[in-house]
Amino acid sequence: MAGKICKGLQEVRDVIAAAHKDCSVLEKLQFYDQWATQYEADVSILEYRAPRLAALALASVCQLNRESKLVLDVACGTGRAAEELQSCGFHLFHGLDGSAGMLEVAKKKELYQELKQSMLGQGQLPCDSEKYDAVIIVGALSDGQVPVSVLPELLRVTKQGGFVCMTTRSNISNLQYKAELEKEMSSLQTKGLWEQVLVQEVEQWEKAISEKEITEESDYIPGVIYIYRKISAPSVVS
Ligand SMILES: C[S@@+](CC[C@H](N)C(=O)[O-])C[C@H]1O[C@@H](n2cnc3c(N)ncnc32)[C@H](O)[C@@H]1O
Repeated sequence: MAGKICKGLQEVRDVIAAAHKDCSVLEKLQFYDQWATQYEADVSILEYRAPRLAALALASVCQLNRESKLVLDVACGTGRAAEELQSCGFHLFHGLDGSAGMLEVAKKKELYQELKQSMLGQGQLPCDSEKYDAVIIVGALSDGQVPVSVLPELLRVTKQGGFVCMTTRSNISNLQYKAELEKEMSSLQTKGLWEQVLVQEVEQWEKAISEKEITEESDYIPGVIYIYRKISAPSVVS
């Protein structure tokens, strides 16, 4: 970790608590800009395993020809999800994120064929429809980050039969967001646009950052991974 400052767990909790404070999306992205070079060292102290767990889940449903599947990493940050996907055999990545600082760190890894700065949840993603074999969004679907309104866009850019892999936290402060997320997921399923193929609840998602969420039994918070498959439109028989 040359050049990185080694912090203790409490210092990292304080940094992330600052990121979770009520603020505008622009302020949040500015926070990520200045955190970018320290982000990976800090989240490893929190034992943040979401990118690894999401990559393994996506690999479990996407078993054939992973090396030729084009994956869109939404809210890619510094590229942790693509790194984990690469170790599972995926090789083709495009990334989107709102923070120029996070994208700068991701770019240096030379994992992505394309990286774009983009505000998420505000209108269309800067991507063609039905372009990606899989879309993944890790660590960004939560209160104060990417709004639930991004879901139809994740679906639009996914190929028919392709997968959308999403994660969120199940800790108390994120429960309302999680309920809204699951409502939108169900609504898209009721409309026949996608079908759920995997839900994986994880007890030890990452270390809690708030004293209020530490119990006698555990100082971890839970999280969840969802995978949906985009339903193929029925072919028109003349
Ligand atoms: C916790 S990091 C997760 C990064 C990466 N996926 C990972 O798991 O390490 C959240 C990322 O989402 C981005 N982000 C949060 N809200 C956003 C928004 N509304 N528009 C664009 N990017 C956003 C941040 O810039 C940050 O890079």
